[in-house]
Amino acid sequence: MASGYLQFPAGFIWGVATSSHQNEGNNTNNDFWQWEQAGHTRDGTISGLACDWWHNAEADFDRAAALGLNTLRLSLEWSRLEPKEGYWDDTAFERYRQMLLALHERGLRPMVTLHHFTNPLWLAKQDGWLNPTVVDYFARYTAQVIERLGDLCSWWCTLNEPNVYLLMAYLAALWPPGYRSIQAFSQAARHQVLAHAAAVDVIKQHTPQAQVSFANHIAAFDPHRPWHLGDRIIAHLLDTIMNRWALDSLQGGCLRPPFGTGWEKLSMTAPPLDYLAVNYYGSHPQQFKFGGSVIGLIEQQVIHEERAWDTPWEMRETSPQGLYQLLLEMWERYQLPIYITENGFCEMGDEKRPAYIISHLAAVHRAIAAGVDVRGYYYWTLVDNYEWAEGWTTRFGLYHLDPETQKRTPRPSANLYREIVRQNGISEDLVKAYAPQLLGELFATGQLVTEEE
Ligand code: BGC
Repeated sequence: MASGYLQFPAGFIWGVATSSHQNEGNNTNNDFWQWEQAGHTRDGTISGLACDWWHNAEADFDRAAALGLNTLRLSLEWSRLEPKEGYWDDTAFERYRQMLLALHERGLRPMVTLHHFTNPLWLAKQDGWLNPTVVDYFARYTAQVIERLGDLCSWWCTLNEPNVYLLMAYLAALWPPGYRSIQAFSQAARHQVLAHAAAVDVIKQHTPQAQVSFANHIAAFDPHRPWHLGDRIIAHLLDTIMNRWALDSLQGGCLRPPFGTGWEKLSMTAPPLDYLAVNYYGSHPQQFKFGGSVIGLIEQQVIHEERAWDTPWEMRETSPQGLYQLLLEMWERYQLPIYITENGFCEMGDEKRPAYIISHLAAVHRAIAAGVDVRGYYYWTLVDNYEWAEGWTTRFGLYHLDPETQKRTPRPSANLYREIVRQNGISEDLVKAYAPQLLGELFATGQLVTEEE
């Protein structure tokens, strides 16, 4: 019998997160597909069949159900639903109906994202998120989705990680359309916030009971040398722009450009956010360096870390403590229920993933004990999927995937996660079996942490 136990609240939501382009396969009609064909990915690979979800997502839904999960986060592919401007593809809507029904049949409540980084080619040709009309296009797309699929989902994320998307596509030129421009970044950022606001109104008009948010990527931007003014300034700047800019704009009802001055009032009838959707992977300690342009500086501070997924673990900064602190800050600032809509670790094998999962869930548990209203956790991801500019080099899955044969093999982390979900908590025995190095840290006091706490 275990002497220590980290118990999660009754009714805690356990899931995995995925996205259309990374999982479905053959999404030939979007801008990222085109980008891959042009050889822009690290290993030169293309998404190809990805996890073949367009034909058989159900087999992976079975896997998710067998893990005991009660929710799955997926996204809809705009380029499938509206392959030509103003033309709606009934067959694609029907396929998503099947998928959502299949989730419900398996006891997996869907959380659906409307935009996860990819754009239909027709939109990309019209300048994508730089074009002010994108706000209307997005609202129109949202209306179609809600009318046709709104009976099967009541939990929406409008956009996935506007901050990461804008950074990679408009500042770092690593994703399409490949810009390196502060002005383009700011313009597209404005349109993303306006698109979220418009989509929320559309969703609420049709289904007032729906819960809506957008998935916000957060990272711990701490000063590397806490006494150093430069490190502190750059850490604060990045924390403001990356972690809080979009949330503050929406919550405050007032849109300020991420760089520069001025503001405009947001006109929305519905509340901008019903919950906070938080994607967290790690920390980016900030060390100020002189010289270079603003873009160069931001790149140096954030992107090089982002692109270091396949470097050894020791060289990257993971920080469960950073997650704990950010949860406390987010709760204090916004007072909204929080779902961790992504958290995951990449490595081809599974040496460090179990400890990553345990230590991050322990941080979530600590935040809950400190009074933060965290209601659910989604591991990124179920089966290895196509990792954007990193191609197939970077693997986050609970299941290993061979993209050629489509064979899935569970990693030990799949068993670990299933056990955590079954226990609705983490027992000391589980830690002993999967990450004994964490025993002292998690159970030093032989604590018995119960639901009532
Ligand atoms: C994105 C996912 C991506 C994951 C791992 C998140 O920022 O939402 O699409 O696969 O990070 O890099």
